[in-house]
Amino acid sequence: KKITVTVIKADVGGCVGHSSVHSALIEKAQGMLKGSSLLIDSYVTHVGDDINLIMTHELGRNNGEIHQLAWDTFVACTEIAKKLKLYGAGQDLLADAFSGNIKGLGPGVAEMEFEERKSEPIIIFMADKTEPGAWNLPLYKIFADPFNTAGLVIDPSMHDGFIFEVRDLIENTRVTFSAPEEIYDMLVFIGAPGRYCIKRVFHKKSGEIAAVSSTQRLNLMAGRYVGKDDPVCIVRCQSGMPAVGEVLEPFTKPHLVSGWMRGSHSGPLMPVGLQQATPSRFDGPPRVVALGFQLAEGKLIGPQDFFADPAFDQARQIANEIASYMRSLGPFEPHRLHLDEMEYTTMPQVLKKLKDRFEKLR
Ligand code: 13P
Ligand code: 13P
Ligand code: MG
Ligand code: MG
Ligand code: MG
Repeated sequence: KKITVTVIKADVGGCVGHSSVHSALIEKAQGMLKGSSLLIDSYVTHVGDDINLIMTHELGRNNGEIHQLAWDTFVACTEIAKKLKLYGAGQDLLADAFSGNIKGLGPGVAEMEFEERKSEPIIIFMADKTEPGAWNLPLYKIFADPFNTAGLVIDPSMHDGFIFEVRDLIENTRVTFSAPEEIYDMLVFIGAPGRYCIKRVFHKKSGEIAAVSSTQRLNLMAGRYVGKDDPVCIVRCQSGMPAVGEVLEPFTKPHLVSGWMRGSHSGPLMPVGLQQATPSRFDGPPRVVALGFQLAEGKLIGPQDFFADPAFDQARQIANEIASYMRSLGPFEPHRLHLDEMEYTTMPQVLKKLKDRFEKLR
């Protein structure tokens, strides 16, 4: 019997601004998922202004009914968001109607199907004010860096390494790399997380799915780019997979990610507990939450709010220091993103206004 873990997320209205989600939306979503006979279990939470629907079922990946349930839930939450005049009500629902699969309609999706092991610890990572490529660096460390993951060296069942499936979000292609043999080739690509994103990781020896992210094609819908939004990632742990602590370890060194303030700035990814998942300084800095569950016949036993642990206090302090430094650069790169990475810009208008003042040099 195979279990599918599906995480679908969307921002359907922030409270206040882009910092959090009103409890009325969370309660609505909880009610809709608990009322569905499709699911074995569900857990609803939010990180910043994004609602995360964590669902388990036996219907497999890309199941139309499950995706419809998530879509209907977000539509129902949007109605409340509109009534409360929350900020950006319905922001991530870019299509007018559901059409079989939620991919490309705005919400982010990460799903994995597997035979539940004797013990099945999983971690759901959820981030706000960043993009799917934000998982590249931690996923690389977790599954390919022996200085992070001791098991790669000392666990016989992990020693062969892992397979990485990488997506080119612009060309909409995929390529797989075998670690450790091909890590130098792979790093050429995943070091550019705005375009190349790790979509899936597989245990090499068994072929078992180890991790999946909500990476999606950048497609032009409703006149703007989507698929570059506040992402989620599911990771399986222990028994041939990295230990829970190896999976959490990369987040002790906050790395710079894109998506802070107006989706147009770079800042450190700060690991926080759910109580602190309310980005506020300059609408940030970007946040990541890690919820752990033990699966039991598809039931979600937990969660454990990992980054609430004081062992991550120092990471938060480092993130605050990096945030202050980056903020000191104001409108300059690399705090402000490179021109083609900004969510919006006044460049065309300003260029137009000043077009007669540019003198051709020879
Ligand atoms: P325990 O001895 O606490 O079970 O820990 C085992 C382990 O390998 C942790 O990484
Ligand atoms: P969200 O993608 O989380 O809505 O953030 C948008 C933004 O511009 C924050 O400054
Ligand atoms: Mg928002
Ligand atoms: Mg958000
Ligand atoms: Mg967003």
